[in-house]
Amino acid sequence: MSAAVRIRPATIDDLDAIMAIERASFPTDAWSEAMMAEELRSPHGAYVVVEQAGRIIGYAGLRALAGARDGDIQTIALSADARGRGQGRALLRHLIDEAARRRVRELFLEVRADNPMARRLYASEGFHEIGVRPRYYQPDDVDAVIMRLDVRAWDAARDARPAEAGACT
Ligand SMILES: CC(C)(COP(=O)(O)OP(=O)(O)OC[C@H]1O[C@@H](n2cnc3c(N)ncnc32)[C@H](O)[C@@H]1OP(=O)(O)O)[C@@H](O)C(=O)NCCC(=O)NCCS
Repeated sequence: MSAAVRIRPATIDDLDAIMAIERASFPTDAWSEAMMAEELRSPHGAYVVVEQAGRIIGYAGLRALAGARDGDIQTIALSADARGRGQGRALLRHLIDEAARRRVRELFLEVRADNPMARRLYASEGFHEIGVRPRYYQPDDVDAVIMRLDVRAWDAARDARPAEAGACT
């Protein structure tokens, strides 16, 4: 049986591990280290990492200003060897849950049109496509699909969902 997995708040000390996964996951459009550090330090954000046996295997971030009715899923990525085991869904649910706690009503995100895995994950949690930003991702010349989630509807449906695999919070 694999070692226990846990999600915990990210700190600035996690920056190197997060950046290693960021660069490997987004080879052409990774955030800079400075940008990621700013996100981790921001009071408007909520970043988490998922750890297995003391090793960071993924991270995700929410941006939701105090008192705001809307927020954004900023990023989510797993190291390649940790994908496909439910951790992406667990991280996403953790952030939506945090948004619900902050009384956010609508969550938005942008996803590359050529990322069917991520789009399926978001759609399966209730995100709907509401628009496209043509050629948003450069230099790859790929459209961004904008998706929106009704957080209260997601929260209300909580009991109907099966628990995600693996992670405990
Ligand atoms: C996208 C990502 C975060 C998903 O995390 P994950 O742990 O691999 O995904 P999960 O195991 O939680 O699966 C969640 C859903 O994603 C989809 N998915 C996962 N692996 C898939 C695959 N190989 N093929 C198609 N869909 C897949 C499915 O809808 C799946 O739900 P299901 O298992 O009920 O069918 C992860 O694959 C990743 O880090 N990718 C690279 C970075 C990235 O693209 N981030 C998103 C930027 S918007």
